[in-house]
Amino acid sequence: MLPLMAFISIRPPWMLPEHAVTPEAVHCRRREFLRHMGIAGAGLALSPSVLAQSSTNPPVAGPQAAPRNPAFNPKLPLTPERIVAHYNNFYEFSTQKDRVAQLVGRFRTSPWSVWIGGLCSKPMTLDFDDLLKVAPLEERVCRFRCVEAWSMVVPWTGFPLSKLLAKVEPTSDALYVKFTTALRPDEMPGVARLSDYPWPYTEGLRMDEAMHPLAFIATGLFSKPLPKQNGGPVRLVVPWKYGYKSIKSIVKIELVREQPATLWNALAPHEYPFESNVEPNVPHPRWSQATERDLATGNRIPTLPYNGYADQVASLYPRK
Ligand code: MTE
Repeated sequence: MLPLMAFISIRPPWMLPEHAVTPEAVHCRRREFLRHMGIAGAGLALSPSVLAQSSTNPPVAGPQAAPRNPAFNPKLPLTPERIVAHYNNFYEFSTQKDRVAQLVGRFRTSPWSVWIGGLCSKPMTLDFDDLLKVAPLEERVCRFRCVEAWSMVVPWTGFPLSKLLAKVEPTSDALYVKFTTALRPDEMPGVARLSDYPWPYTEGLRMDEAMHPLAFIATGLFSKPLPKQNGGPVRLVVPWKYGYKSIKSIVKIELVREQPATLWNALAPHEYPFESNVEPNVPHPRWSQATERDLATGNRIPTLPYNGYADQVASLYPRK
């Protein structure tokens, strides 16, 4: 774990509330970017094609087109694809959200394989094509809430994480699941710039969280293969937790007995607890979590307990 002083000296922009501390230059670039995408300005007007992208419409055709699962559809307008794919947190590439998509070009996502092992009877390495056969692909529309207090509504393609874990037959000693992102500094220009970070990016879930039907492995976005900047070719989506739990570009999934170390928790445990459920009544030490900025409209909207998934997941946390 890094000493706190070291952490303070390398604190990245996303760990501070955007409006309060974004350096002016970055802020201006972001405004230009939003203007370029047509979502800045007083009206924040949405084009007709954007309005047509609603979660009440069927998924569009594409190489990762899959039937939309009606059980996982909050029936909210989808955030426009150009925003979802160009407003990214992926620190291995850049701390500037609008730069990530420009910097992923050298990142090789094919061939790709994921090792799944640890406390299980059948450890295995699956290449990407094997992964696509783990379970029938489905589309899920999910709310996505970043700890920075912005949010999106995203159509992911993929399958439940529980189906993947069942394949390796976890033993009863497996109490947690640890996930690890690829680490290739030659292809990831952000890694060297944050040389004090405890790379690779890791995240974790309790076993019961990982087996919950809402925990999802995503291989697609808007019916297309998952873009590299969004964590292609394969990432985790845990919609009732802050976005940093949804680890990108996974190469390793390990069943373990002890709670695993995670990158953000190692950097600042008091700010990024392991559990990290979306809790509007629990402020981040440096800002409120009561509301969020909807990236599609720019409006501030109330944040919901467990990001709107309390009916499904509150029972996992009986003490609260
Ligand atoms: N995974 C890795 N490997 N590296 C990261 O920097 N950022 C996290 C999460 N997963 C991150 C990551 C954070 S803070 C958020 S909010 C989401 O990815 C952003 O996902 P998106 O860019 O697809 O919106």
